[in-house]
Amino acid sequence: MSTPYAYFEKQIVPLADAKIGVMTHAFNYGTGVFEGIRGNWNAEDETVYLFRVEEHIRRLAQSARILRIDIGHTADEVATQIKRIVEMSGIREDQYVRPLAYKSSEVLGVRLHDLKDDLLIFVAPFGPYLDIEKGIRCQTSSWRRVDDNSIPARAKNTGIYVNSAFAKTDAILNGYDEAIMLTHDGHVSEGSGENIIVVRDGRLYTPAVSDNVLEGITLATVVELAGEMGLEVVERSIDRSELYVADEVFMTGTAAHVTAVTEIDNRPVGDGETGPITKELQQTYFRIIYGRDPRYAHWCTPVKLRQPVPQA
Ligand SMILES: Cc1ncc(COP(=O)(O)O)c(C=O)c1O
Repeated sequence: MSTPYAYFEKQIVPLADAKIGVMTHAFNYGTGVFEGIRGNWNAEDETVYLFRVEEHIRRLAQSARILRIDIGHTADEVATQIKRIVEMSGIREDQYVRPLAYKSSEVLGVRLHDLKDDLLIFVAPFGPYLDIEKGIRCQTSSWRRVDDNSIPARAKNTGIYVNSAFAKTDAILNGYDEAIMLTHDGHVSEGSGENIIVVRDGRLYTPAVSDNVLEGITLATVVELAGEMGLEVVERSIDRSELYVADEVFMTGTAAHVTAVTEIDNRPVGDGETGPITKELQQTYFRIIYGRDPRYAHWCTPVKLRQPVPQA
C-alpha cells in the first residue's frame, strides 16, 4: 500500500493532513492556478517518468503572473518538491501531480491584491481519462469558451474550470464523451481539458493561441513530433464545419494524452476510426512518455521508486 504525500505550507505531510480553511480566498473565489503533470509508471524500470516537468512549472509561473500570485519558490524548488512527494508516495501506477499556487488568505473580498499566496503540491493515482483505444464522440457545446478579456484561458486558473465543467457535463449527459467549445465569434477553441487538432489533406491545423486556448504542453509535444514526421502544422482559426469535413480530428492533453475524435455532432470523423496520422503520433508519444525513447529522455524526469516493504 502506498501513502500519498503532499507538499503543503512548506512541509511534506500525508495528503490526508493537507487541509485548507473554509475561508481560504481561492476556495471562495477561484483565485488559484495549477498544473497537471503526468507521472507515467514504467514497471520494468520501477520508475515513474514525469513528463515535461520544466515546461509545466514554467506555465505555472506564467499563470501565476497573470493572477498576481507569488509562487514563493524557484522552479528548481518546485521540481525538487514534486520529485520528493512522488518518491515518498511510492504510487506504482500511472499518476498525476497537481501543483497549485493560490490566494491563501482567509478573508472575504473579491480581489487579487493584498492577499497571501501559497503553493501546494499533491499526487494521486490517475489512469486513462478518455478512451484512447476506441476514440471519443464529441459534441460542439452551447457553452462558449471564456474570452481572454473575461478569464484568460492562457492561465490555468481554477475558477475558469467552471466553464469547462458546464461543457463537459452537458456533453456527458447528452451521451457524448467530451465537449468541443467554440470562441464567442464561433471558431473552434478547445475541449473541456484538451487542445484540438484537425487533419485535412495530410496537414495539421490547430486553433491560434488567440482563440482562447490553454497553450498545451502535449500539443507542443505533438507539433514537434509531427514536424519530425515531415508533417506541416498550421496554427489558425478553425471553422466549426471544418470539423465535419476533416480526415482526422484528435485531442491532446496531460490527462487525455493523444485521443482520436471519431464522431462530432453525429457525423463520423473520416471513416469513424482512429486515423493513420493520429495512430502514428499516439504510438510515438506513448513510447516517449514511459521513458522508452532515449531521443526524448530530456522530456522525462525519472523518479525511481524503492521496493515496497513486504506486508507481514
Ligand atoms: C482547458 C485545457 N486545454 C488544454 C489542455 C491541455 O494542456 P496540456 O497538454 O498542457 O495538459 C488542458 C489540460 O491541461 C486543459 O485543461
